[in-house]
Amino acid sequence: MKYILGIDTSCDETSVAVIGDGRHLLSNIVGYQWEIHRKFGGVVPELACRRHIEVIYPITREALDQAGIGLKDLSAIAVTTSPGLIGALLVGVSFAKGLSYGLRIPLIGVNHLEGHIWSIFLEKRVLKPFIVLVVSGGHTNLYLVKAMGDYKLLGRTVDDAAGEAFDKVAKILGIGYPGGPAIEKWAQKGDPHSISFPRAMLDRKDFNFSFSGMKTAVINYIRSLYPVSHVDEIPEILKQDDTLKANISASFQQAIVDILVDKAIRAAVDLQIKRIVIAGGVASNKLLRETMGKWGQTRGIRVYYPSPVFCTDNGAMIAWVGYRYYRKKKFAHLDLNPEARSNIGMD
Ligand code: KG4
Ligand code: ZN
Repeated sequence: MKYILGIDTSCDETSVAVIGDGRHLLSNIVGYQWEIHRKFGGVVPELACRRHIEVIYPITREALDQAGIGLKDLSAIAVTTSPGLIGALLVGVSFAKGLSYGLRIPLIGVNHLEGHIWSIFLEKRVLKPFIVLVVSGGHTNLYLVKAMGDYKLLGRTVDDAAGEAFDKVAKILGIGYPGGPAIEKWAQKGDPHSISFPRAMLDRKDFNFSFSGMKTAVINYIRSLYPVSHVDEIPEILKQDDTLKANISASFQQAIVDILVDKAIRAAVDLQIKRIVIAGGVASNKLLRETMGKWGQTRGIRVYYPSPVFCTDNGAMIAWVGYRYYRKKKFAHLDLNPEARSNIGMD
């Protein structure tokens, strides 16, 4: 069996996985850093890098142990090279280079977005072509996927990513980090139709998104009810008002989901594609999964989404893509450098 080690340190999760013959996922260890970043309401890059350095070796050991193999059994090292936080990427890439050089096995650079695109294949096969919506803390990209390496970017956010909007609104409300799961929890107790937040760019024919207005809309709504001289005061003011926190969470979540679902379904209908995949951290949102599934059904479109652990950042998706590169001998050299920004599927 060919064993590929997959490493992802693109943001605030240190993850290492082992995949056998590109099909058998033998381990996928994820070190979350929520405790470190929670008090700042967002990822602090320097702290993320430091933590990656501390845990990358123990997490790799754990991944190998759980897979029941040793370093000498590995056939190649696949690592996320871009996009992401540059210092965070650098930790994974440097570590991967060291292993590749020391073990004399190929080094494979993988684009993080390509990892998310194929993450569903860790659990299911999806017939190609398909539409994939990558919705995470850093991206909101809609692609047409015809084959491995054949991606067309249909649309993307022109400002904030959907996950970023979740994180920012949760920070304003003072309900915790990461924002997505916190908002999802509060939303359960609220009425999704109690507040009408804007659904930006829905009237446009293109497949681009805009979420930066959501934050302002939430602040303005709270301001219409309470005297607020600075946004930092809002968590304290809302301490007494759980109903408002729940209603804002539910209405905000509904607005984001409506936008994402509308554009993804419209893209599939326009291009006559019968399959939509959702991927990335926000794809673990239950309302998004259910609503996309429901709307899809009315149009004869099948909707696929990975288990939550493969929605958020993970080494498994990098190992999966890495194996395909390994088969094609698409190897990187030791001068491989990470890049903070990059996109795929742009003409
Ligand atoms: O894919 P990911 O782990 O990292 C990036 O590549 O950015 O995505 C993280 C993002 C965060 O913004 C987080 O708030 C969001 O995914 N997220 C969610 C949920 N779980 C995570 N958003 C909405 N609902 C969730 N259940
Ligand atoms: Zn990601």
